[in-house]
Amino acid sequence: MEEIINYPKHLAIIMDGNGRWAKKQGMMRIFGHESAMKAVRETVEYCVENHISYLTLYAFSTENWNRPAIEVNALMELLIKFLKKESKSLNENNIRLKTIGRLDHFPKKAKETLLETIDKLKDNTGITLTLALGYGAREELSTAVKNIAEAVKNGLISTENINESVINSYLYTSDLPDVDLLIRTSGEYRISNFLLWQIAYSELYFTDVLWPDFNKNHLNEAILNYQKRERRFGKTSEQLR
Ligand code: FPP
Repeated sequence: MEEIINYPKHLAIIMDGNGRWAKKQGMMRIFGHESAMKAVRETVEYCVENHISYLTLYAFSTENWNRPAIEVNALMELLIKFLKKESKSLNENNIRLKTIGRLDHFPKKAKETLLETIDKLKDNTGITLTLALGYGAREELSTAVKNIAEAVKNGLISTENINESVINSYLYTSDLPDVDLLIRTSGEYRISNFLLWQIAYSELYFTDVLWPDFNKNHLNEAILNYQKRERRFGKTSEQLR
């Protein structure tokens, strides 16, 4: 049988279902977030093992600021814990870390730990792990529009020259390729303001598995499903052959 080797270059994941997972065990929501770390680790490992060059995780959305303060604080603590605990292993695996979104409202300690870890891993040349933190696609696009308008006003670009590649260069993801595969766990069929521009031609994969239960086998199933799909980018099947 022909070996299928087309792995996505850029995988993005909406890690959903932590709260429901915890509730099912009669535990507090935060226990679900804590238990989610194992799934994050397995996913990163899978990407390293299979040369998936870019992994982008939706870790905290602009809308997540509306959750109860106790949960927001716990998520911030968890971010710090993740960075401190995993930075050695991320480095050993030659992983570069990046963040997209607005860190303005993040607690000083979380921001500092994040920036320190990014700096520590900046010369790595393996896969790029991007954490979407304080991220919302509409905020990203609004900021891009504002900055493009400013550039036009200052004579750096002309209105006629604004095209898709210019817009792309003003997004937080300017140095990342488009997303090939977007996975959402927990049986919800929504995009929830994640990477709206970047998923224009992505394959979408939804699974009922709650994020803390998500493991390498589930990810492998998603990849196998992706590999069977024909990505036509608006063309016909015949044109692709
Ligand atoms: C969605 O589950 C998950 C989040 C809002 C946070 C995701 C955060 C983590 C997995 C931990 C932090 C990750 C890193 C990489 C530091 P939910 O709470 O919306 O679940 P529910 O829909 O069942 O309520």
